[in-house]
Amino acid sequence: MLPQVATVLAVTLFATTKLVEARPKSYAVWAADSVIARGQGNGLTAGVPSVQYADGEFQWGLRLLYERTGNQSYFDWIRMGADNIVANNGSVIGGYNLSSYQLDPLRTGPTFIYMYEQTGEAKFRQAANVYRGQLNVHPRTEEGQFWHKLIYPNQGWLDGVYMGEVFYTRYTLAFDTHNATAWNDITSQFELMFDHTIQLPGAQNDFGLLYHGYDYSHTAIWASPDRGHSPEVWDRALGWYMMALVDVLEVAPANSGPLRPTLLRILNTLVPKLRDAADPTTGAWWLVITQPGRALNYFESSGAAMYIYALLKSVRLGYVEDPHGSIVAAAKKAYGYAVENWVIPNADGTMSWNNTVVVGSLNTDGSFDYYVSQPVDLDDLKGVAAFLLASLEYEKL
Ligand SMILES: *[C@@H]1O[C@H](CO)[C@@H](O)[C@H](O)[C@H]1NC(C)=O
Ligand SMILES: *[C@@H]1O[C@H](CO)[C@@H](O)[C@H](O)[C@H]1NC(C)=O
Ligand SMILES: *[C@@H]1O[C@H](CO)[C@@H](O)[C@H](O)[C@H]1NC(C)=O
Ligand SMILES: *[C@@H]1O[C@H](CO)[C@@H](O)[C@H](O)[C@H]1NC(C)=O
Ligand SMILES: *[C@@H]1O[C@H](CO)[C@@H](O)[C@H](O)[C@H]1NC(C)=O
Repeated sequence: MLPQVATVLAVTLFATTKLVEARPKSYAVWAADSVIARGQGNGLTAGVPSVQYADGEFQWGLRLLYERTGNQSYFDWIRMGADNIVANNGSVIGGYNLSSYQLDPLRTGPTFIYMYEQTGEAKFRQAANVYRGQLNVHPRTEEGQFWHKLIYPNQGWLDGVYMGEVFYTRYTLAFDTHNATAWNDITSQFELMFDHTIQLPGAQNDFGLLYHGYDYSHTAIWASPDRGHSPEVWDRALGWYMMALVDVLEVAPANSGPLRPTLLRILNTLVPKLRDAADPTTGAWWLVITQPGRALNYFESSGAAMYIYALLKSVRLGYVEDPHGSIVAAAKKAYGYAVENWVIPNADGTMSWNNTVVVGSLNTDGSFDYYVSQPVDLDDLKGVAAFLLASLEYEKL
């Protein structure tokens, strides 16, 4: 009797230990489960409702993973995240303030639309309408570009295109699909940003990529005298813009006028440049892309994950041709570097994600010294959410 019990016990213990230690084969699953285990991405910061664009980014990945696996926990996590920042009367709580005219909060809007489509609950539609209402009164440059925030007059930042236009597109698609003005407006947000921030041939440290932002009035301390752009190409800002291109293209309908051709043209301009900007040895990208190898510059993980996602998705959906396989090869090489260097297995079976820079803002001088002086974080959701997205694409190869 006793030895048998002991055997059963031992087997059970062994199995349990194995379960705890075994990590999911899929990095997408591992990343998502780890974020959930840490209680991230659910509309709360230190237990308090809080509208965070990184939650929207993560929930986007989680939705794709839910569609792939059917694991109800993922859907429930997204729903909890939306419930935490949408009151029963449909107002957005968690620090959202329409009159401060920021684009960042709007990146949580696609989750509201998804929840409305899945549950039919009116509060989610009302919450989406709140954000859409903001866009109708959001301050713009004379040419029509949304200001990044009220406190940054006349400034367009690449980040804002991901925050604003992914929502604007999803909203128009869901509720307003015949609104040609809206489709033209979305197109113009991408185009104005591109035209004002593209590095022109012959520029110093020219990679043919996009500077972090521009000031239409040329008055910001960092604005170049000739075109008003900021001085450096910051990896994550360009990462947001690249993700916005592929995420909007994926759903842009046939009746969206100039949207598809414009985004395809921009994507086909940027993708080869981005491929060529990767460090030849490691396959990773520098934090300040325009200053490869300079002291204190380093390979940053959130931007890289965003690029991997955008490069692979561009090729998979046929937006960019890759006849020699060099684009996919660049993404694969960078992914290998990411897994080797930035994924850290923890004793509790979760993974951590390293080397994501906490912030890069143009409320500074936008200099190289500024970008490289910012702290780097472990388990920063902006980065690990991008790694989830990159892994979803990688695992489709
Ligand atoms: C579903 O997701 C949850 C939350 O991340 C995870 O704990 C669980 O193991 C997953 N279930 C399956 C069957 O994979
Ligand atoms: C909606 O609900 C929130 C949170 O309960 C509350 O603060 C707000 O005043 C309500 N708005 C209206 C218009 O009733
Ligand atoms: C919302 O933002 C506006 C503009 O910055 C500010 O004047 C107002 O005090 C803010 N409201 C709250 C409740 O913080
Ligand atoms: C169509 O979109 C434009 C631009 O955002 C907006 O001003 C207008 O109110 C929208 N029309 C309708 C019927 O919603
Ligand atoms: C994360 O990366 C930094 C910088 O490369 C390194 O110093 C740190 O030890 C890493 N953290 C972990 C938990 O490995």
